[in-house]
Amino acid sequence: MKPLIFTLFSEGPLLQAISKKLNIAIDTVQCHEFPDKETYIKINSDVKNRTCLIFESLNHPNNKILPVVFLAETLRDLGAKNIGLIAPYLAYMRQDKRFQPGEGITSSYFAKMLSHYFNWLSTVDPHLHRIHHLNQIYSIPSTVIHATEAISEWIKMNVVNPLLIGPDRESVQWVEQIAIGAGAAYLILEKTRHGDSAVEVSIPEIQQFQACTPVLVDDIISTARTMIETIKHLNDLNMKPPVCIGIHGVFADNAYDALLQTGANQVVTCNTITHVTNKIDLSEVIANQIDSQLKS
Ligand code: R5P
Repeated sequence: MKPLIFTLFSEGPLLQAISKKLNIAIDTVQCHEFPDKETYIKINSDVKNRTCLIFESLNHPNNKILPVVFLAETLRDLGAKNIGLIAPYLAYMRQDKRFQPGEGITSSYFAKMLSHYFNWLSTVDPHLHRIHHLNQIYSIPSTVIHATEAISEWIKMNVVNPLLIGPDRESVQWVEQIAIGAGAAYLILEKTRHGDSAVEVSIPEIQQFQACTPVLVDDIISTARTMIETIKHLNDLNMKPPVCIGIHGVFADNAYDALLQTGANQVVTCNTITHVTNKIDLSEVIANQIDSQLKS
């Protein structure tokens, strides 16, 4: 029997393309918010003994997570035999340690909760920094899908003489692979974060790359302060206006406009979170991974 695929918040072009590639129709869920803001869920298909996939990008996680776990629990209650979560963007990956006494390690608590409701998880390039593998916090099988090859291809097709710049040490895991794939040089900077929107980035040593087009690459663009501080250095060094690439364009508040105003020539993201900057399509790589997951 074919698996069933459900979503509450993510029925955008990415899911449409994946459903077409896998030849699995998207099943409807009735989800209603009562006047008191509680959630009503109704599933219209027979899910008994079926494999069910829930496709949700988990940006704005606090708004989404309770309806999503209610959906998973409803499917289980109605007899689904296996429930997988495909989360192109996986939230709560950055508070992965207690930086100050008394803080909660929310990466770990979020992982514990999802591991309770799902049988397995697939996601695209989660923010693995101090945690090196999802299985350090998730107790269910998990697969990481990489956007690096698609990004390298986009750079090869769209940027003349690129120089890749990773704004902090952890970005080396993406930037190095993307640079190799694109046949480009790369630099990694040092970042110090003093607060949500207070970031310092080291000045790139870039003299010999004056003729290049800088391409800033990061896994997440949230407030965009990391990229904005880097662009300011590039402006001071009279470099060409950079291309800014984020795997996941979270874009808090006015982050996108602020990036353009600081001098980004172009802002480009993968389509893990629907946004006007989505230029790099991951439907093929995600559909292939789901296909092999379903055959395993
Ligand atoms: C964290 O280290 C990530 O890799 C990104 O650098 C960070 O999330 C970017 O955040 P923002 O856009 O708020 O500077």
